Amino acid sequence: MMMWKERLFLYSRRRHLMKTTGYHIIKKFNKSEYMMRNLDYPISNIQNVYFSKGKLNQQIVKTNLLKNGYCIVRNTNLQNLFSTEVKCDTHGLYTDRYNICEITPSQLKQYIFGDNYENETMDYAFGTDKRPEYTKSILGVNDEVSPSNFVNFHNELAYTDEFPKIISFVCITPSLTGGYTPLSNVRTVYNELPNDIKEKLLKYGIKYVRNIRDKKSELSIKNNKIDIKGQKCWQDLFNTNDASEAESICRNIYKYDTQWLKCRTNNTPILRVMYNLPGFMTIQNDDETVATSFVNSLLGMHGSFFDSYDKYYETLPYIERPLHSLWGNGEEFTKEEIQTIKILYQQNSIRFEWKEGDIIIVDNLWWAHGRYPFFGNRKILALMGIPWKRQENPLYVKSIN
Ligand SMILES: [Fe+2]
Repeated sequence: MMMWKERLFLYSRRRHLMKTTGYHIIKKFNKSEYMMRNLDYPISNIQNVYFSKGKLNQQIVKTNLLKNGYCIVRNTNLQNLFSTEVKCDTHGLYTDRYNICEITPSQLKQYIFGDNYENETMDYAFGTDKRPEYTKSILGVNDEVSPSNFVNFHNELAYTDEFPKIISFVCITPSLTGGYTPLSNVRTVYNELPNDIKEKLLKYGIKYVRNIRDKKSELSIKNNKIDIKGQKCWQDLFNTNDASEAESICRNIYKYDTQWLKCRTNNTPILRVMYNLPGFMTIQNDDETVATSFVNSLLGMHGSFFDSYDKYYETLPYIERPLHSLWGNGEEFTKEEIQTIKILYQQNSIRFEWKEGDIIIVDNLWWAHGRYPFFGNRKILALMGIPWKRQENPLYVKSIN
């Protein structure tokens, strides 16, 4: 049953799209697609998803990752990963608690990342948003922020120099509607890119921009108009309260360009960091084959994400929004370039409806992921592992800048 709020939202969304895109586009949409405030075309085939047969175990994960680049297992009972029940004796007296999930968190990590999982799991220290941590290296995804927006396709942490080879999501509670985690095959996306975009990717790479706020200053403002909920401030990112130390870490350890700016509204300091990274990767797979993939966070970090996100951020030029991406030479991507990339992601994507206990394990260098808008509570866990260092990859393709 649809809630009245949802009905109203879908109705106004449909009217908006009819005005902006025309009825011929609307006809292709299904109900949940009207929900997307920041996406004006239908995306992802729901039918082309392969669900692995059998119980979740290490072998099934390994085999499917090698064959398909992802593994989805249903009915795992993982929704109870952190649930316990009380054990009583014959008199009904409390004796102990026991875990009602047949898989422990350690076993889960072993199935996903292999026997060396203790050394292979990764955290999200340098990620863009705050995430709750349930237990060591099992995180929640941050759904507090922008549940009504489509989160663009991205390869996890590909805006850094060390990112996970494997990312996994576990569904504890599916949302009432939407909330899918679509996947897009970035090997095919790369192959289908027009030559001019491929050439620019090779020549310039991508420049990532982060405008990082000062926690102390923002929290000191009463009724702060700027919503920093979900964002990491430089104190969180660099683990220091000393601004000059944070800047020095950026310059000397990460080799970022840095700049201190003032927020136009609050007059608070903002640390801008900018750096270039390649826009694709050529890698050798476990089966010795070589593949080139469109691995990056070009769309995931693009300032256009903040259109229809927040009354304040959408008034700012892209470069002043919390995150942005540009060509490596500092030029903006054209609207046509962004649209071409969005459509290629869409055409090469798949999605499925989350059910309680579903787990998806993804090769982060083969498939990008996104998130549909949703209504209702949604609780998805995330695990990342097998750190991939660009510079240690022998087939690393470095951009010119
Ligand atoms: Fe992600």
